[in-house]
Amino acid sequence: MKAIVWTKYGSADGLQLREIATPIPKENEVLIRVHAATVSRADTEFRGLKVPLLFSIALRLYLGFIKPNRITILGTEFAGEIAAMGKDVTRFRPGDQVFGYTGLHMGTYVEYLCLPEKPAGLAGVLAEKPVNMTYEEAAAMPFGGLEALHFLRKANIQAGQKVLIVGAGGSIGTSAVQLAKHYKAEVAAVDSTGKLETLRSIGADHVIDYTRDDFTKNGQTYDIIFDTIGKSPFSGSLRSLKENGAYLNANPGLLGGIRMRWASKRSGKRIIPWTAGYSTQNMLALKELIEAGAIKAVIDRRYPLEQVAEAHRYVDTGQKRGNVVITVVQSDEG
Ligand SMILES: NC(=O)c1ccc[n+]([C@@H]2O[C@H](COP(=O)([O-])OP(=O)(O)OC[C@H]3O[C@@H](n4cnc5c(N)ncnc54)[C@H](OP(=O)(O)O)[C@@H]3O)[C@@H](O)[C@H]2O)c1
Repeated sequence: MKAIVWTKYGSADGLQLREIATPIPKENEVLIRVHAATVSRADTEFRGLKVPLLFSIALRLYLGFIKPNRITILGTEFAGEIAAMGKDVTRFRPGDQVFGYTGLHMGTYVEYLCLPEKPAGLAGVLAEKPVNMTYEEAAAMPFGGLEALHFLRKANIQAGQKVLIVGAGGSIGTSAVQLAKHYKAEVAAVDSTGKLETLRSIGADHVIDYTRDDFTKNGQTYDIIFDTIGKSPFSGSLRSLKENGAYLNANPGLLGGIRMRWASKRSGKRIIPWTAGYSTQNMLALKELIEAGAIKAVIDRRYPLEQVAEAHRYVDTGQKRGNVVITVVQSDEG
């Protein structure tokens, strides 16, 4: 089968189209024919090890110290159909349409991949594809949708609340804006100039261009501040929260996360750092919300599998609005 193999840390030139063996499912695994995948910001950060030093050392230990050799294919999101399965699988049948997230195993820039029928936690998630989405749309949903759902539920979001979303134009952010509107909140969306029109189009009530304005100095206070990217000033954000408000951070970093947990004990405000929520139950909740029309996929560009390196170069520019999709099977009618 065709795969995009990750041959070195650094530029996108290290992503190379190769023929590799099609995997064979184990007894508890399904073989998925991938129709679509995505190039996320995390894929590009991993590729170039563009992460804080401590995390980059941990990543090298996990992936391979000099070059990636334990994990050699990037990509975490996919949608496709069940092509075959091991003898113990009961949850799916060949032909079922699915979408999912492979977590730390990565490996979605391929024509076929194997996953346990019930992966859990950082090993990924798998569920039936929403019936009202194409494979390309469904592939763009798992990561951002699960993160947005997890955090907004943790904050116990309520109708009428004022919610501010930092990094609103990205993968998590575009799902979070739509979900917060679904929960009938008043949404302020923060991102760079080129993303504001997209944010208005998905329902944001207010948009703030972070390259010109600082939300911590606009005199407004919010019930929930959701930083999807870990770039908001922590103390300033707490000052912009109402009494009993909640501060959510999907990317606090190791030390930032510890600091936030500590601060949460000392202030009356709820501080919820770190990522979670990768469960089948949450995937099915996400599927239901999609089928109810609460969230739509925001797709910026599509590239064929052969052009994954090109897609990475585009995500590297920082211009991505929502998601960049890799089309593995053309003429997707899924
Ligand atoms: N995708 C994954 O699988 C995954 C997994 C684990 C962790 N994460 C982490 O989760 C975080 C969010 O991921 P994502 O996929 O949603 O990222 P994304 O799609 O790149 O979205 C991030 C958005 O934040 C904007 N931004 C950057 N600096 C900002 C600032 N100071 N204020 C407001 N907005 C700002 C970016 O716009 P500009 O570039 O135009 O500034 C971009 O639109 C990332 O840090 C990523 O490493 C992702």
